[in-house]
Amino acid sequence: MNAPLDSRLDRFLDLEPELEDFRTAILAGLSRPRKSTPAKFFYDAEGSRLFERICELPEYYPTRTECRILRDQAAEIGADLPSGATVLEFGSGSAEKIGLLLEALDRPRAYMPLDISRDHLLASADAFAADHPELEVIAICADFTEPLNLDGIAPEGPRIGFFPGSTIGNLEEAEAARFLEGAARTLGPGGHFVIGVDLVKDPMVLEAAYDDAQGVTAAFNLNLLARINRELDGDFDLEAFRHVAIWNPELWRIEMHLMSLREQTVHVADQPFHFRVGETIHTENSHKYTVDGFARMAACAGFETRRCLTDPDNLFSVHVLKVV
Ligand code: AVI
Repeated sequence: MNAPLDSRLDRFLDLEPELEDFRTAILAGLSRPRKSTPAKFFYDAEGSRLFERICELPEYYPTRTECRILRDQAAEIGADLPSGATVLEFGSGSAEKIGLLLEALDRPRAYMPLDISRDHLLASADAFAADHPELEVIAICADFTEPLNLDGIAPEGPRIGFFPGSTIGNLEEAEAARFLEGAARTLGPGGHFVIGVDLVKDPMVLEAAYDDAQGVTAAFNLNLLARINRELDGDFDLEAFRHVAIWNPELWRIEMHLMSLREQTVHVADQPFHFRVGETIHTENSHKYTVDGFARMAACAGFETRRCLTDPDNLFSVHVLKVV
């Protein structure tokens, strides 16, 4: 498929990924004995706006730490990466981070963002193309958690994958391993992968990052209930739920929950859901890794670690991997 007429993209390809339906997922999640909802549904317009604010919070160190690593250690990152490469970004995210990676590269040839959300992809890729007329920009609407055959779609030559933000941490470990295996196949033998991974650290630092003093993360979490009310005719009382962020030391992850402050029955799409006092909806996991633990998982998926860059406080890591 060609890019929309008024767009500055060189090419747009819609692989028509299957979208998990919000209604089905929420009703199924609230019907489980331990209520839970998929974290991907946080990101409606208001959720995306709140997430941008989270990235700026003093307590939320990942964004600025990763940017600092990409900026300050660009020479080290670029040293192992081939020139003339096509950069495939898994999810089209921050213009700042992709800009920093491109600056670290020698004569990058093309940029290919892959994203499941067509509208978000078109808007962000179009803005990117306007700022980078020197690069070929090919946007692909696809589910990047599945391996993709990009032969004939990606320009000939080396491929570099990019997955910043420690978004891999929002996947269960088995899902993360499967994602890495798929990425290795998408990138092909000799392909490189630059991936940001948040590190295990003092639980106090982690819990503050996910429960900030200004209450922005709480608003982000509670916005899911507002979205359910709006889109699924729900009657959640947002005052009757509290945001909780807690470190799980066995599973090495921050868990976000919404805790019911009283016994209550809530209706969503005409279906009743009962809550006991203190019962929670588990809304997100954010897994943290050690450098060695992540390198082991990457090795099992078919990557060798060429380099791992961290900040002086060992808060965050950027791994440069190569498909063996
Ligand atoms: C998108 N993702 C990597 C964020 C994280 O840190 O797990 C989402 C987030 N949730 C609360 N704060 C940020």
